[in-house]
Amino acid sequence: MTHRKLQPGKLVIASHNAGKVREIRTLLAPFGIEPVSAGELGLPEPEETGTTFAENALLKAHASAQGSGLPALADDSGLCVAVLGGAPGVYTADWAEKQPFEGGPGRDWYMAMGKVEGKLAELGPDTDRSAYFICTLALAWPDGHEELFEGRVQGSLTWPPRGTLGFGYDPVFVPTDRTQTFAELDPAEKHAMSHRADAFRKLVEAVF
Ligand code: IMP
Repeated sequence: MTHRKLQPGKLVIASHNAGKVREIRTLLAPFGIEPVSAGELGLPEPEETGTTFAENALLKAHASAQGSGLPALADDSGLCVAVLGGAPGVYTADWAEKQPFEGGPGRDWYMAMGKVEGKLAELGPDTDRSAYFICTLALAWPDGHEELFEGRVQGSLTWPPRGTLGFGYDPVFVPTDRTQTFAELDPAEKHAMSHRADAFRKLVEAVF
């Protein structure tokens, strides 16, 4: 399959999530790309109405490419827990959404991690705690061309949360063959093994 190459120059990072934008900027640093975030350009955040990671990533990338006239890169990602049938999956961010009676609107990651833990606890102490992060990266150009790449990292969930680095569910995710959570590992170490890095490796091979 031939992929369209990404030329040096401006690329919109179609995300309003500061943690993701930071990680994607780091991953793009070696490639002569000038990343500019959707937030900096004042681009609206489209509703994530898709039912798959790919649909949501494409939706965000196309919205930013159309809104800016520049190529755009979007990341849709999430945590999938095996015994929960892959939940929270595409709804990973929604599980952190605070209701008005919880002080919302806003997101509370500690609460979201607690919801996952609550569901595992219901299944008993011997339940399978394996989980994986998925990252789907979508690149879209203003003329409608698109490219998709998917990455994964396997691990298991620990409780209570540990560590202050990273973002989202990092404090409960221990990658396979490690003892530290993603929030305890040095960011460079997380970047070397994460779902985002895996998807990024595929993107780099295809479009640079
Ligand atoms: P969305 O892709 O914006 O719908 O959100 C996916 C959610 O998955 C994020 O807001 C994070 O909570 C979670 N997530 C994705 N990647 C990571 C990661 O690298 N570490 C921790 N949580 C992540």
